[in-house]
Amino acid sequence: MPEPNTLKTTSAEAMADAVEEFLQDELNRSLQPGTGQQAPRAKRRFPTAAEIAAQIETRHHRLGVGNLFYSGEQHVRKLSPMPEKPALADFFRLRFLDTSNHVLQSANLAQKNGLPEEVVLACLLHDVSQELIHVDHGWWSAHIFEPYVPEKTAFAIRYHQALRFYADEAAGYKYPELYLELFGEDYKPEPYVEAAYQMARKHKWYDLARMVTVNDLYSFEPGVVVELEQFTDLLGRHFKQPPEGLGFDNTPVAHIWRSIIWPDRPL
Ligand SMILES: [Fe+2]
Ligand SMILES: [Fe+2]
Repeated sequence: MPEPNTLKTTSAEAMADAVEEFLQDELNRSLQPGTGQQAPRAKRRFPTAAEIAAQIETRHHRLGVGNLFYSGEQHVRKLSPMPEKPALADFFRLRFLDTSNHVLQSANLAQKNGLPEEVVLACLLHDVSQELIHVDHGWWSAHIFEPYVPEKTAFAIRYHQALRFYADEAAGYKYPELYLELFGEDYKPEPYVEAAYQMARKHKWYDLARMVTVNDLYSFEPGVVVELEQFTDLLGRHFKQPPEGLGFDNTPVAHIWRSIIWPDRPL
């Protein structure tokens, strides 16, 4: 457990994101490639705040860099080319390689819990921007999907990040014990996170964003594989797939999709 004074050396947002990344990595490592079977593995320990802070100047990359651009101790893989007019499903298949298991599980859980389709969709998309960047991933995920999803869905995706830090036991969300251990009992989120929470708390769509956090934490179940096909009809109803393909439709976010298509291009 880190000493209380070392907790302040790394922002809690960064730590919370590092926790998410660690859990996603654990989930992905737990699955045998292509089989959905559980793989034998040694239990790993989550690094402390002090360890993360101490590593900053030992790395050639920033902690916030996305999974597509940096793959830890291993070399990055050669990516398969995308179709000319890529659909969301192509990104799940060919680019969202580290985040898809987690978001599929989250959407599966939300669907099983009978939540509105806008929330199931938010769960399905809420973390995939982490392939690009980890910093402020709620805002990034909402941003890249905003032109294509219902407004309610974009709202739920954006604010799930801030809501992680605030309990709502009536809604079924307890403050995560892991955060208590990592950040200490008297931890206060950064002012912009608090402001986002306060805004969302009073908003008529608060429950939608809250439901993403409720169906998020419990969605790192090793050995459970959910296929995107389970959501094909839902996507048909609520995701406006551009006929030109994501990245080529001239929306204000098209260039971001192209960066995901071609992460190896230098310029
Ligand atoms: Fe998240
Ligand atoms: Fe998540």
